[in-house]
Amino acid sequence: MPYARIIGTGSYLPARRMTNDDLSKIVDTSDEWIATRTGIRARHIAAPEEQTSDLAVQAATRALANADIQATDIDLIIVATSTPDMTFPATACIVQNKLGISGCPAFDVQAVCAGFMYAVTTAHAYIQSGLATKALVIGAETFSRLLDWQDRRTCVLFGDGAGAVVLSASDAPGIIHAKLQADGAYSHILSTPGKLSSGVIEGAPYLHMDGQAVYKFAVKALAKIGTEVIKEAGYTAAQIDWVIPHQANYRIIESTARHLDIPMDKVIVTVAEQGNTSAASIPLALDQGTQDGRIQRGDTLLLEGIGGGFAWGAILLKY
Ligand code: UT7
Repeated sequence: MPYARIIGTGSYLPARRMTNDDLSKIVDTSDEWIATRTGIRARHIAAPEEQTSDLAVQAATRALANADIQATDIDLIIVATSTPDMTFPATACIVQNKLGISGCPAFDVQAVCAGFMYAVTTAHAYIQSGLATKALVIGAETFSRLLDWQDRRTCVLFGDGAGAVVLSASDAPGIIHAKLQADGAYSHILSTPGKLSSGVIEGAPYLHMDGQAVYKFAVKALAKIGTEVIKEAGYTAAQIDWVIPHQANYRIIESTARHLDIPMDKVIVTVAEQGNTSAASIPLALDQGTQDGRIQRGDTLLLEGIGGGFAWGAILLKY
């Protein structure tokens, strides 16, 4: 069976940067509170005319250039998003069209902040089974549009952005082990319950979160799945060169790393400048780590993410 190997990465952040001080003019908050509790200093916000698919296309175009292949070489597109352009069609189909290609399967995966883990694992299964040879996997979000900008408990945490990878069938590793989990009993602690029904919005349309419950669940679940994936792959924590975690909160990242027994200087952290970009955060961090030269070919990476559902996952791979 072939491995699925990352042959290119790319990312995109909207031009508008909103700092904690900017936010303190909108809600009763402060740079000190946000930075101390979350590590976030700023986030990027999509322009009114920018759709999730636009962010995705920017990241995808950069990933294709980085992989040195054409869009026409792609035979599978998966977009991980909880902020699609519209109810349907899938954002992946819109992205396919904007990339100027047609024919290959294109669909969205909705696993909120774990979306990129679910999308990459799905593409991995397609490649291993021979159903695809070159997959474009994108995490793209405009979470700023789900936020109640009067609610200081949530609006300070999130940002917009997109990250993408090209996965290719390869004899050399590649993804070594991937694991996904979910528990719908925890859906109430992080959700956007509103929906369109008969032409009107039914239920609360904004993101709701029990921050402390999410925090506790996230640290426990990420530490457990990270440990399991390392062990099941036949590796030890000392063999991991880089951890690329979902970027929700610096304290969650630090605590998870401590549980995994991996020092923070082996963890790629982007949360300070990007906030939580949901499904986009892991590929954004991966692209940053590769572009700045920290992540090198042959390195062993542990990717892990968690979000609403609850859904979570971890992937161990050779870059
Ligand atoms: O992808 C997963 C997405 N979500 C997460 O990962 C979030 C996980 N949770 C967290 O990161 C933390 O729980 C938060 C950062 C959201 C909150 O931190 P906390 O230490 O759990 O604070 P808290 O909710 O217990 O609130 C403490 C106080 C409260 O005031 P009182 O009731 O003690 O007077 C809040 O009203 O902080 C207040 N507060 C704020 N103050 C200033 C809440 N939000 C803010 C704010 N600015 N933005």
